[in-house]
Amino acid sequence: MTRHFLKVTDLSPEEIRRVLDRARELKCEPIGRAFAGRTVALIFHKPSTRTRVSFSVGVHQQGGMPLYLGQGETQLGTSESIEDTARVLSRYVDAVVIRTFAQADVEAFAEAATVPVINGLTDERHPCQALTDIFTFEESFPASRGRTITYLGDGNNVAASLGAAAALTGIHLNLALPEGYDLPDAMMEELRGLSQAYGTMLEVFRDPVAAVRDSSALYTDVWISMGQSETAEKLRALEPFRVDEELLASSAPDAVVMHCLPAHRGSEITDAVLDGANSVVFDQAENRLHVQKALLEFLLAEEGK
Ligand code: CP
Ligand code: NVA
Repeated sequence: MTRHFLKVTDLSPEEIRRVLDRARELKCEPIGRAFAGRTVALIFHKPSTRTRVSFSVGVHQQGGMPLYLGQGETQLGTSESIEDTARVLSRYVDAVVIRTFAQADVEAFAEAATVPVINGLTDERHPCQALTDIFTFEESFPASRGRTITYLGDGNNVAASLGAAAALTGIHLNLALPEGYDLPDAMMEELRGLSQAYGTMLEVFRDPVAAVRDSSALYTDVWISMGQSETAEKLRALEPFRVDEELLASSAPDAVVMHCLPAHRGSEITDAVLDGANSVVFDQAENRLHVQKALLEFLLAEEGK
């Protein structure tokens, strides 16, 4: 049966563990033949540095060929439907990574595809990032179960997937968000259900200092995501949630600082914190490579079953 990775919960906690363990091996031994003769299409309707390059390099390092298909470069969306594109690409390639706007479009693509489809970010979710976030957190805290990550800022796609990945790996999540910029109700309901099912805590804070107090990680993301328009009101509301040295000092001394990047230095995070001793942000970026290779390997192996 074709397995897709459109959201974190498309993998079970045991499967996530397997992928993260394999990623650790691949980090030590990056070159191999796991994807020899295989082609992975990368459909991107939004810009990308990390996702595009880490998937491209990862496929190449394991003997496969990445095929980048940017906005306007295929018939998709203009003269061909999502479903027909999925059917046709499935006849040529072995897996597809898609970054686009609507989660429903990725789901429609996967429904029609007969090869694994990976969500490379939608407005709603960013599951590849979330797997990597847990992998990176565990590099600093191998006994991660029962620790807390605090996400500060805008209730967006990154926060949503981080919440799901945290629950499935036994990590508590604090969400420090200004009123009006919460995650959508349906997403909060989904995350509450997961935290209940997996026995983790999920708490929403309006006070960033209270939120980070017992946290092992402070995580932030851009205040204005791709496709959104900036408003003065939103920037004003988010101002108190900036991750700066003062806020970092309110958390545990060994707390790590995380950011999926790209960062808007001076907005959601200051230079001093991003470049400071507690930051694992660039490890997090590197780890996209290792984790996604392990994920692709897992999904392709499932194809053979
Ligand atoms: N973090 C992340 O997904 O970065 P890109 O937008 O550069 O891919
Ligand atoms: N929330 C951000 C993440 C970028 C990787 C966005 O969607 O633009």
